[in-house]
Amino acid sequence: MIKTRKYWLITGLLVVLLFAAFYNGLVVKKYIINTNKLDADQSVRIVLISDLHNHVYGENQSKIISSIRKQSPDIIALTGDIADDEMPIEGTEQFLAGIQGIAPTYYVSGNHEYWSNDIQNIKNTIRQYDVTILENTYQQIKVNNSSIIIGGVDDPDIVKYEKPGFDWEGELYKAFLELQDKPDFKILLAHRPELIEIYKRSDFDLVLSGHAHGGQVRIPFILNGLYAPDQGWFPQYAGGEYKHDSLIHIVSRGVSFNPRLPRVFNPPEIVVVDIKGE
Ligand SMILES: [Fe+2]
Repeated sequence: MIKTRKYWLITGLLVVLLFAAFYNGLVVKKYIINTNKLDADQSVRIVLISDLHNHVYGENQSKIISSIRKQSPDIIALTGDIADDEMPIEGTEQFLAGIQGIAPTYYVSGNHEYWSNDIQNIKNTIRQYDVTILENTYQQIKVNNSSIIIGGVDDPDIVKYEKPGFDWEGELYKAFLELQDKPDFKILLAHRPELIEIYKRSDFDLVLSGHAHGGQVRIPFILNGLYAPDQGWFPQYAGGEYKHDSLIHIVSRGVSFNPRLPRVFNPPEIVVVDIKGE
Protein backbone atom coordinates (compact mmCIF):
# COMPACT_ATOMS: atom_id res chain seq x y z
CA MET A 1 0.00 0.00 0.00
CA ILE A 2 2.74 2.44 1.02
CA LYS A 3 4.78 1.36 -2.00
CA THR A 4 1.85 2.06 -4.34
CA ARG A 5 1.35 5.51 -2.84
CA LYS A 6 5.03 6.30 -3.29
CA TYR A 7 4.86 5.12 -6.90
CA TRP A 8 1.94 7.43 -7.69
CA LEU A 9 3.56 10.33 -5.87
CA ILE A 10 6.78 9.99 -7.86
CA THR A 11 4.86 9.52 -11.11
CA GLY A 12 2.75 12.60 -10.36
CA LEU A 13 5.82 14.70 -9.59
CA LEU A 14 7.49 13.55 -12.79
CA VAL A 15 4.43 14.47 -14.84
CA VAL A 16 4.32 17.97 -13.26
CA LEU A 17 8.07 18.38 -13.83
CA LEU A 18 7.83 17.29 -17.46
CA PHE A 19 4.88 19.61 -18.04
CA ALA A 20 6.80 22.53 -16.53
CA ALA A 21 9.93 21.68 -18.48
CA PHE A 22 8.26 21.55 -21.88
CA TYR A 23 5.57 24.19 -21.32
CA ASN A 24 5.73 26.38 -24.40
CA GLY A 25 2.90 28.84 -23.88
CA LEU A 26 3.74 32.53 -24.01
CA VAL A 27 4.71 34.02 -20.67
CA VAL A 28 5.09 37.67 -19.69
CA LYS A 29 8.35 38.63 -17.98
CA LYS A 30 8.40 42.01 -16.24
CA TYR A 31 11.29 44.27 -15.33
CA ILE A 32 11.23 47.62 -13.50
CA ILE A 33 13.95 50.23 -13.97
CA ASN A 34 14.05 53.29 -11.73
CA THR A 35 15.67 56.43 -13.05
CA ASN A 36 16.02 60.05 -12.04
CA LYS A 37 15.98 60.97 -15.75
CA LEU A 38 12.18 60.80 -15.63
CA ASP A 39 10.06 62.88 -13.24
CA ALA A 40 8.86 61.02 -10.18
CA ASP A 41 5.29 60.66 -11.42
CA GLN A 42 6.30 59.55 -14.93
CA SER A 43 6.75 56.12 -16.43
CA VAL A 44 7.28 54.51 -19.81
CA ARG A 45 6.28 50.96 -20.64
CA ILE A 46 8.11 49.06 -23.36
CA VAL A 47 7.02 45.69 -24.70
CA LEU A 48 10.03 43.89 -26.14
CA ILE A 49 9.56 41.13 -28.70
CA SER A 50 12.57 39.31 -30.10
CA ASP A 51 13.31 36.34 -32.36
CA LEU A 52 9.82 35.57 -33.63
CA HIS A 53 11.38 33.76 -36.61
CA ASN A 54 7.97 33.95 -38.31
CA HIS A 55 6.40 31.60 -35.79
CA VAL A 56 2.63 31.90 -35.55
CA TYR A 57 0.89 32.10 -32.14
CA GLY A 58 -2.80 31.41 -32.70
CA GLU A 59 -4.86 32.16 -35.75
CA ASN A 60 -3.39 35.24 -37.45
CA GLN A 61 -1.08 35.67 -34.44
CA SER A 62 -4.10 36.39 -32.24
CA LYS A 63 -2.49 34.99 -29.06
CA ILE A 64 0.68 37.05 -29.13
CA ILE A 65 -1.13 40.17 -30.33
CA SER A 66 -3.71 40.06 -27.54
CA SER A 67 -0.94 39.48 -24.95
CA ILE A 68 0.89 42.56 -26.20
CA ARG A 69 -2.27 44.67 -26.32
CA LYS A 70 -3.13 43.67 -22.73
CA GLN A 71 0.13 45.21 -21.53
CA SER A 72 -0.86 48.66 -22.93
CA PRO A 73 2.68 49.52 -24.01
CA ASP A 74 3.88 53.04 -24.76
CA ILE A 75 6.49 51.61 -27.13
CA ILE A 76 6.97 48.25 -28.84
CA ALA A 77 10.59 47.24 -29.46
CA LEU A 78 11.45 44.50 -31.96
CA THR A 79 15.05 43.38 -31.51
CA GLY A 80 15.72 41.33 -34.62
CA ASP A 81 15.08 37.92 -36.15
CA ILE A 82 11.42 38.82 -36.40
CA ALA A 83 11.58 37.36 -39.91
CA ASP A 84 13.59 34.26 -40.74
CA ASP A 85 15.80 33.08 -43.58
CA GLU A 86 14.06 29.71 -44.02
CA MET A 87 10.43 30.23 -43.01
CA PRO A 88 7.82 32.10 -45.07
CA ILE A 89 7.32 35.73 -44.05
CA GLU A 90 3.52 35.47 -43.64
CA GLY A 91 3.76 34.94 -39.88
CA THR A 92 5.77 38.12 -39.54
CA GLU A 93 3.33 40.09 -41.65
CA GLN A 94 0.34 38.84 -39.62
CA PHE A 95 2.19 39.83 -36.47
CA LEU A 96 3.06 43.31 -37.76
CA ALA A 97 -0.47 43.90 -39.03
CA GLY A 98 -1.84 42.87 -35.62
CA ILE A 99 0.37 45.17 -33.55
CA GLN A 100 -0.05 48.11 -35.91
CA GLY A 101 -1.61 50.99 -34.01
CA ILE A 102 -1.04 49.59 -30.50
CA ALA A 103 2.02 51.80 -29.89
CA PRO A 104 4.92 53.35 -31.81
CA THR A 105 7.05 50.40 -32.91
CA TYR A 106 10.82 50.27 -33.48
CA TYR A 107 12.81 47.50 -35.14
CA VAL A 108 16.44 46.52 -35.57
CA SER A 109 17.66 43.68 -37.77
CA GLY A 110 18.97 40.33 -36.61
CA ASN A 111 21.37 37.87 -38.21
CA HIS A 112 18.66 35.65 -39.74
CA GLU A 113 17.22 38.57 -41.65
CA TYR A 114 20.65 39.10 -43.23
CA TRP A 115 21.05 35.37 -43.87
CA SER A 116 17.94 35.56 -46.08
CA ASN A 117 19.99 37.59 -48.58
CA ASP A 118 16.83 39.64 -48.90
CA ILE A 119 17.28 42.19 -46.13
CA GLN A 120 16.07 45.23 -48.06
CA ASN A 121 12.80 43.53 -49.05
CA ILE A 122 12.29 42.40 -45.46
CA LYS A 123 12.88 45.93 -44.18
CA ASN A 124 10.51 47.36 -46.79
CA THR A 125 7.84 44.88 -45.74
CA ILE A 126 8.32 45.82 -42.08
CA ARG A 127 8.14 49.55 -42.92
CA GLN A 128 4.74 49.05 -44.54
CA TYR A 129 3.30 48.38 -41.09
CA ASP A 130 4.34 51.79 -39.67
CA VAL A 131 7.40 50.38 -37.96
CA THR A 132 10.42 52.65 -37.60
CA ILE A 133 13.60 50.88 -38.62
CA LEU A 134 16.66 51.98 -36.67
CA GLU A 135 19.95 51.59 -38.57
CA ASN A 136 22.63 53.35 -36.53
CA THR A 137 20.00 56.01 -35.96
CA TYR A 138 17.96 57.32 -33.07
CA GLN A 139 14.82 59.28 -32.38
CA GLN A 140 14.02 61.62 -29.55
CA ILE A 141 10.40 60.97 -28.66
CA LYS A 142 7.84 62.18 -26.19
CA VAL A 143 6.11 59.45 -24.19
CA ASN A 144 3.44 60.65 -21.78
CA ASN A 145 5.26 63.73 -20.40
CA SER A 146 8.78 62.35 -20.72
CA SER A 147 11.34 62.81 -23.44
CA ILE A 148 13.34 59.69 -24.19
CA ILE A 149 15.80 58.63 -26.84
CA ILE A 150 15.50 55.33 -28.66
CA GLY A 151 18.35 54.22 -30.91
CA GLY A 152 19.14 51.04 -32.75
CA VAL A 153 21.89 49.29 -34.60
CA ASP A 154 21.85 46.88 -37.54
CA ASP A 155 23.09 43.36 -36.97
CA PRO A 156 26.86 43.08 -37.63
CA ASP A 157 26.17 40.51 -40.36
CA ILE A 158 25.53 43.61 -42.48
CA VAL A 159 29.28 43.44 -43.17
CA LYS A 160 29.12 39.90 -44.60
CA TYR A 161 25.88 40.24 -46.54
CA GLU A 162 25.48 43.85 -47.58
CA LYS A 163 28.40 46.21 -46.93
CA PRO A 164 31.80 44.49 -47.14
CA GLY A 165 34.45 46.58 -45.40
CA PHE A 166 31.89 48.47 -43.30
CA ASP A 167 33.41 49.43 -39.93
CA TRP A 168 30.42 48.22 -37.89
CA GLU A 169 31.93 48.94 -34.50
CA GLY A 170 33.41 52.32 -35.42
CA GLU A 171 30.24 53.50 -37.16
CA LEU A 172 28.13 52.48 -34.17
CA TYR A 173 30.30 54.58 -31.88
CA LYS A 174 30.20 57.59 -34.23
CA ALA A 175 26.46 57.38 -34.76
CA PHE A 176 25.65 57.84 -31.08
CA LEU A 177 28.55 60.07 -29.99
CA GLU A 178 26.38 63.19 -29.81
CA LEU A 179 24.08 61.50 -27.28
CA GLN A 180 26.63 62.25 -24.56
CA ASP A 181 25.28 65.80 -24.40
CA LYS A 182 21.64 64.81 -24.07
CA PRO A 183 20.07 64.45 -20.63
CA ASP A 184 17.21 62.15 -21.70
CA PHE A 185 16.82 58.48 -20.78
CA LYS A 186 18.48 56.61 -23.67
CA ILE A 187 17.61 53.18 -24.96
CA LEU A 188 19.53 51.12 -27.52
CA LEU A 189 18.03 48.21 -29.45
CA ALA A 190 20.75 45.75 -30.48
CA HIS A 191 20.08 42.15 -31.47
CA ARG A 192 23.21 40.44 -30.11
CA PRO A 193 23.73 40.51 -26.35
CA GLU A 194 27.30 39.22 -26.38
CA LEU A 195 28.48 42.50 -27.94
CA ILE A 196 27.58 44.48 -24.82
CA GLU A 197 31.19 45.65 -24.36
CA ILE A 198 30.85 47.51 -27.67
CA TYR A 199 27.46 49.06 -26.81
CA LYS A 200 28.86 50.17 -23.45
CA ARG A 201 31.15 52.67 -25.16
CA SER A 202 28.12 54.72 -26.20
CA ASP A 203 26.07 56.68 -23.71
CA PHE A 204 22.96 54.57 -23.17
CA ASP A 205 21.02 53.87 -19.97
CA LEU A 206 19.33 50.71 -21.22
CA VAL A 207 20.19 48.16 -23.90
CA LEU A 208 17.56 45.68 -25.14
CA SER A 209 18.67 42.51 -26.93
CA GLY A 210 17.57 39.00 -27.93
CA HIS A 211 19.34 36.40 -30.09
CA ALA A 212 20.25 33.98 -27.28
CA HIS A 213 16.84 32.20 -27.12
CA GLY A 214 17.31 31.82 -23.38
CA GLY A 215 20.17 29.42 -23.95
CA GLN A 216 17.53 26.90 -25.16
CA VAL A 217 17.70 24.64 -22.09
CA ARG A 218 17.44 26.05 -18.56
CA ILE A 219 17.25 24.57 -15.09
CA PRO A 220 15.61 27.02 -12.70
CA PHE A 221 18.01 28.40 -10.04
CA ILE A 222 20.84 26.23 -11.40
CA LEU A 223 21.47 26.87 -15.06
CA ASN A 224 20.57 30.04 -16.97
CA GLY A 225 21.01 28.60 -20.44
CA LEU A 226 22.90 25.68 -21.92
CA TYR A 227 23.86 27.01 -25.35
CA ALA A 228 23.39 30.24 -27.28
CA PRO A 229 24.48 31.27 -30.76
CA ASP A 230 27.78 33.19 -30.78
CA GLN A 231 28.24 32.58 -27.05
CA GLY A 232 28.51 28.79 -27.07
CA TRP A 233 28.01 26.58 -24.03
CA PHE A 234 26.83 28.11 -20.74
CA PRO A 235 26.28 31.57 -22.23
CA GLN A 236 26.85 34.57 -20.01
CA TYR A 237 23.97 36.54 -21.56
CA ALA A 238 21.31 33.89 -22.15
CA GLY A 239 18.44 36.00 -20.87
CA GLY A 240 17.56 38.26 -17.98
CA GLU A 241 18.78 41.55 -16.53
CA TYR A 242 22.47 42.43 -16.34
CA LYS A 243 23.95 45.51 -14.68
CA HIS A 244 27.09 47.24 -15.96
CA ASP A 245 27.62 50.19 -13.63
CA SER A 246 24.79 52.56 -14.53
CA LEU A 247 23.89 50.70 -17.73
CA ILE A 248 21.14 48.08 -17.59
CA HIS A 249 21.06 45.35 -20.21
CA ILE A 250 17.90 43.31 -20.64
CA VAL A 251 18.15 40.21 -22.81
CA SER A 252 14.88 38.68 -23.95
CA ARG A 253 14.65 34.89 -24.20
CA GLY A 254 12.59 35.59 -27.29
CA VAL A 255 9.48 34.01 -28.77
CA SER A 256 11.13 31.58 -31.15
CA PHE A 257 9.62 28.12 -31.40
CA ASN A 258 11.30 25.37 -33.35
CA PRO A 259 9.92 21.83 -32.85
CA ARG A 260 13.34 20.40 -33.78
CA LEU A 261 15.01 22.41 -30.99
CA PRO A 262 12.89 22.11 -27.85
CA ARG A 263 12.94 24.86 -25.24
CA VAL A 264 13.31 23.37 -21.77
CA PHE A 265 12.18 25.38 -18.72
CA ASN A 266 12.40 28.22 -21.19
CA PRO A 267 8.95 29.24 -22.46
CA PRO A 268 8.76 31.93 -25.15
CA GLU A 269 8.51 35.28 -23.41
CA ILE A 270 7.00 38.69 -23.95
CA VAL A 271 9.20 41.13 -22.05
CA VAL A 272 7.67 44.18 -20.38
CA VAL A 273 10.02 46.91 -19.16
CA ASP A 274 8.63 49.68 -16.97
CA ILE A 275 10.94 52.69 -16.74
CA LYS A 276 9.86 54.69 -13.72
CA GLY A 277 10.88 58.15 -12.61
CA GLU A 278 12.13 58.63 -9.07
FE1 LIG B 1 19.70 36.02 -33.86
